[in-house]
Amino acid sequence: MAEVDVNKVVRQHAEMDGFFTGFAIRGKTAAPNDSAPVAAVSSANASSPIPILASNPQSAIRNPQSSSSDAAAELEAVAGEARQCRKCQLGSTRTNCVPGEGHPRARIMFVGEAPGADEDAQGRPFVGRAGQLLDKIIAACGLQREEVFIGNILKCRPPENREPRPDEIVNCLPYLQRQIEAINPDVIVALGGHAAKTLLNTIKGITQLRGQFQEYYTGIGRPPIKLMATFHPAYLLRNYSEQNRRYVWEDMKKVLAELGLPIPERSKGG
Ligand code: URA
Repeated sequence: MAEVDVNKVVRQHAEMDGFFTGFAIRGKTAAPNDSAPVAAVSSANASSPIPILASNPQSAIRNPQSSSSDAAAELEAVAGEARQCRKCQLGSTRTNCVPGEGHPRARIMFVGEAPGADEDAQGRPFVGRAGQLLDKIIAACGLQREEVFIGNILKCRPPENREPRPDEIVNCLPYLQRQIEAINPDVIVALGGHAAKTLLNTIKGITQLRGQFQEYYTGIGRPPIKLMATFHPAYLLRNYSEQNRRYVWEDMKKVLAELGLPIPERSKGG
């Protein structure tokens, strides 16, 4: 087993706390359970997929008046099929399938690469250290995790967190495509190069792709969905640089502006 560099882990935690905390909207500190009117909670794992209606006109939940039950039912169906899936070897090496979770009418959909060890153990996306940092980024945006949808290109963990293989991506991508079509988000945030390259069908790197909106096509004749690529939280943890964090924050501010959502500012002393 690889040796854990305890000092590095402690330093990373301190660094994580530093950059994405202390943001506020209208004098209110943005924190995980502290954002304005709580919208809805629903997940691919939830027993009741029907969301509560959001009351905030600047909501991160899309079109709260329309029925969400179709989207929720499709997300449940996708999750059920992914859990049964044995199209590639990952279906037998995984502990739990990680279909993704979040609001069926989320206006923002985060897409990562593949589950890691913590996600594999819990069957939930982004719950390890990269997930904790993603939670901080979401909270810095003045949002709650339950207001967005979080998924991955691969629904099962590659052993030893190795990179996804092309055949695995080809087999697994239809699940994500169906989730995107069901949710129909206003913006997809692709976390890292793998997610961005896969969704945009390009060989361009994340440094080239991030920072401006790209277009994700769900099909001929359908309007594209805006896609913002940004650095993966795991990359931020591995390669500490304040500039990289700043880039992610700049990317997220563009997403909030696109959605007409308030952009939190760093409060004094934050
Ligand atoms: N990294 C990912 O890309 N996805 C997860 O769910 C967790 C870590």
